[in-house]
Amino acid sequence: MAIIFDKEKKIFFLNTAHTEYQIKINEYNMPLHTYYGDSVGNADMAYLIRELDRGFSGNSYECREKRGISPDTLPFEYSSDGAGDYRVNAIGIILNNGSRTLDLRYKSHSIEEGRAPLNGLPYVRAEEDKVSSLNLVLTDECSGIEVVLIYNVFEDKDIITRSAKIKNNSSVTHILSKAASMSMDMPYKRMDLIHFHGRHAMERLTERNELTHDLQVISSKRGTSSHHNNPFVILCDHDANENSGSCYGFMLVYSGNHAEEIELDQAGSIRIVSGIADNNFSWKLESGEVFETPEAILAYSADGLNGLSYLYHRIIRENVCPKEFRDIKRPVLINNWEGTYFDFDEKSIIEIADAAADAGCEMLVLDDGWFGERNDDNRALGDWFVNEKKLPGGMSKIADHVNSLGMKFGLWFEPEMVNEDSELFRKHPEWALRDPDRKPVMSRNQLLLDMSRKEVVDYLFESMSKILDSANISYIKWDFNRSVSNVYSNWLPEDRQGETSHRFALGTYDLLERLRKAYPDIMMEGCSGGGGRFDAGILFYSPQIWCSDNSEPVNRLKIQKGTSYGYPVSTMGSHVSASPNHQNGRMTPLRTRAIVAMSGTFGYEFDPRKLSSEERSEIKEQIALFNRYYNLIQKGRYFRLTDSRSEEYFTAWEFVSEDKSEILLNIVVTDVRANPEIPHVKLLGLDPDAVYEIDNLFSSCQNLAAGTVDAGRKEKGMKISGAALMNGGFAFDPLYGVYPALQLHFVKGA
Ligand code: GLA
Repeated sequence: MAIIFDKEKKIFFLNTAHTEYQIKINEYNMPLHTYYGDSVGNADMAYLIRELDRGFSGNSYECREKRGISPDTLPFEYSSDGAGDYRVNAIGIILNNGSRTLDLRYKSHSIEEGRAPLNGLPYVRAEEDKVSSLNLVLTDECSGIEVVLIYNVFEDKDIITRSAKIKNNSSVTHILSKAASMSMDMPYKRMDLIHFHGRHAMERLTERNELTHDLQVISSKRGTSSHHNNPFVILCDHDANENSGSCYGFMLVYSGNHAEEIELDQAGSIRIVSGIADNNFSWKLESGEVFETPEAILAYSADGLNGLSYLYHRIIRENVCPKEFRDIKRPVLINNWEGTYFDFDEKSIIEIADAAADAGCEMLVLDDGWFGERNDDNRALGDWFVNEKKLPGGMSKIADHVNSLGMKFGLWFEPEMVNEDSELFRKHPEWALRDPDRKPVMSRNQLLLDMSRKEVVDYLFESMSKILDSANISYIKWDFNRSVSNVYSNWLPEDRQGETSHRFALGTYDLLERLRKAYPDIMMEGCSGGGGRFDAGILFYSPQIWCSDNSEPVNRLKIQKGTSYGYPVSTMGSHVSASPNHQNGRMTPLRTRAIVAMSGTFGYEFDPRKLSSEERSEIKEQIALFNRYYNLIQKGRYFRLTDSRSEEYFTAWEFVSEDKSEILLNIVVTDVRANPEIPHVKLLGLDPDAVYEIDNLFSSCQNLAAGTVDAGRKEKGMKISGAALMNGGFAFDPLYGVYPALQLHFVKGA
């Protein structure tokens, strides 16, 4: 059993294959967090708590004589406010009498096999895994507030998930002002915080800083998980690197406002609290009502950041993403957005489809502009019916044509939005999320729909279903193109307005769930102006998310690398787009663009009618190559091979197949040099006893003497042992040219 309760010592041991998590109930029934890390054979780790009488750290009344026992310094499993703990709290409350104090003590627990799903929220599915769960019931005697801390232990995957259910057992109404999914204290640690910040078209950039004595908050109040701060953070030892050192990951399975709060306290102890952001949040908890928080995914690895990423890649791919799309080959798509923007009609889309099919693409995605009067981005969101002026034959004519070319057909939607200039808004202005007494903040000239209203979700389900039923549609791109503001629901009473943002997220999940159930074969790709909602919540419904509106490969290296800390490449929507790039104007070779885009779901986003015949055959070759390596890339183990220092020169990464028989080594030089240092990397995760041979080489490097691409590269045919590649590494011949890239495929010899 992964979960053991030692009755005598009152300790819960949560054991996974390599890790252990301990909770101890002390003599005052305080739930203490005593350990998380490498397995320690269920030794009682409470000896680490030293009872020091610290000035200005008070004591609970019943232990006022024992001044070393202070809520201000004890490591708590779920921190509350008002009862002597001055560090950041996990739960906030305004009780019926106005008091804001909560003092949670252990009441009971249950341990079960399997896990219960969350109600209306995404979560980590049990699938075929051995999962055990612990429900730890805490209570505040005075107010009747009960908190059930839920732990699901994915034994073989070294993953623990946490969430909380908060129940009002009293006869009066209380108001929740904060309800985090988890809180955890780690004493005696000096750690670095790694988080993933960014902006539109530059998402999930990696930032690493040593923790200092203050509260650091990584958060979004934009109504989505946001381009700006991903709901995933890492705490790692100061000397941890990609391949060694202790690393802890905390990822929220949630797509709305979130906060990860990290505090290094007076005694050198770290607290992390993660959950829905408390900014503008409140939830009225009437007698008997329950509030359920989203789930957080916790992982620990002693094998550095690559080790931690591996745990997340596996759990996201196998237990979060919908099973239906896990093992099927997903199509290489072409999207018309950067090819045409709004300027298309039936004729041009058919021409694009013909050219794309000829180049070997497997699915055509018709992006924004096919519905209502949508001829630019100022109007028609919400009017989910075909614009027959542009597409007189309806959607089925296009879809049938695309299908007749042997390609699948996909369609763009932006369901949660409405323009003032739309039939929907003229009919239902009250459905927009806005404060009726103010002019709303506009962004892309659009407003949000109030997804907390059931009739809005019903309308969207019905209007989208009509389109999906009208043609053979295999894929939906689900967009979200603004940050939320003027959060006000026209149907919620004034004392429930603080619930609007979370109810919005629940409404979106409801619509996603209903569409998934009704159309289980339609694959969804999440999107929010690129990667503004790249989170495990969206991945529960869609196995891939458009990673960024920026597909320029040199910027994309950073975006995809940052994304890779928490999310597998099988989730990263990545396309080859035109050069010069539309976002930053940089010119790069087609092959460099392909090598970067292949480390994702792979596709194209330009006007294929403009391709030369050489480019067309080049693309055929790229698609064939991607398809040949499909399983290796999507299911193989991914390793980052370079750190930020060497990345001033080049970036390298690697895929290793599960059975270690194949390797795909990739390098892109971002600062090409004359008379250069030799690019050198040590490979990871290979079979030391095997001999690997380079059987294929794909490159955009220039042969300076010949003035050609590729010719003269000597790597092909090289045979090197796994032990040599991991210890001595691999030294590349110089890479010259414009952002030269090289992809080497190794196979294990007989
Ligand atoms: C967002 C998406 C783009 C495209 C446009 C259409 O920006 O990220 O890929 O779909 O919307 O308006």
